[in-house]
Amino acid sequence: MRNTDIVILKALLESRPAFVSGNLLATELGISRVGVWARLEKLREQDFSFEAVRHRGYRLVEEPEVLVEDLIRAYLEMYQSSLDVLVKPQVESTNSEAERLLAAGNSVPLVVLAGQQTAGRGRLGRVWHSPGDGNIYASFAFRPKLPPARLQRITLWIGAKIAELLNREYHLPVRIKWPNDLILDGKKVAGILTEARIDADATRDLIFGIGLNVNSKTKRWPKELAAVATSLCAHRAPSISINQLAARLIQTVQSAYNCYLFGQIDDEFRVLWENLDFLKGQTVSTTISGQSVSGIADGVDKDGCLRLILPDKSIITLNSGEVSLGTAATLKAITPGQS
Ligand code: BTN
Repeated sequence: MRNTDIVILKALLESRPAFVSGNLLATELGISRVGVWARLEKLREQDFSFEAVRHRGYRLVEEPEVLVEDLIRAYLEMYQSSLDVLVKPQVESTNSEAERLLAAGNSVPLVVLAGQQTAGRGRLGRVWHSPGDGNIYASFAFRPKLPPARLQRITLWIGAKIAELLNREYHLPVRIKWPNDLILDGKKVAGILTEARIDADATRDLIFGIGLNVNSKTKRWPKELAAVATSLCAHRAPSISINQLAARLIQTVQSAYNCYLFGQIDDEFRVLWENLDFLKGQTVSTTISGQSVSGIADGVDKDGCLRLILPDKSIITLNSGEVSLGTAATLKAITPGQS
């Protein structure tokens, strides 16, 4: 049986800003008009706001500012996505939660979102600051029937498709920084942590986790964090509908994953990366076997490895790790004549 709230919310979303007649909702649901009214009263308790006008019906005026499972599901139905989603107010880490759900026998694909994480995990053993003030913490679990070597570009590809979504639908100039940071106004706005379990040469499962700073007020962040990170709403008020964005994100990740597995992504990946590459042409440094190396970033190769042009014009490729933007001092050393 379909969930009544999802049916009501989907009808209201689809007709927004127009009204939906109470009669129509009642008929669709097979309940009385008083029954519809009672459901709307319950939704009001979750911070939905509706306008009710005699002879016209109801319309949705405001959505909750926190993640609401039924609202995300209503958006997903609207976007014709069949993926189910689990929303928790708080977890230690959505990646760990997805892992736990897989171990408990849940089927894939699986999506888990949380409003807050108490032990959010970043790459290279770092902590991911995860306050409950309007951000998205999401993990997707898949069982790709591909050998690990064929998964080399999956994080880059899905990350680039998310950056594309934010540019196309929200007109936000988000760029992707190799290997998997999303950058807005020169600061990190999202981080991605992909974790895979490998058996010999087969992939058992893969968890793609993303933390996206959406409506978080950066003014309330610790100074050191605000210096290097940002949120979507810091770039452009007013705040974004977090539930709609969560649904679009889910739809984007699902379709990017399917394309990666069953389609041909080579040409689109190359064009997408060229258009969204944050590092292209910039001087960056990294550490290789304990040695600091600097060079000019020159996009990625067909395997998703970062190409670096060294001062002697030789080219090296990096298949993992991290790079930081070079300092003025290194910049001079590598590209004489540029400032
Ligand atoms: C990074 O840039 O270091 C990666 C950060 C990844 C954070 C996300 S938030 C959702 C998911 N759950 C986690 O514990 N981590 C990832």
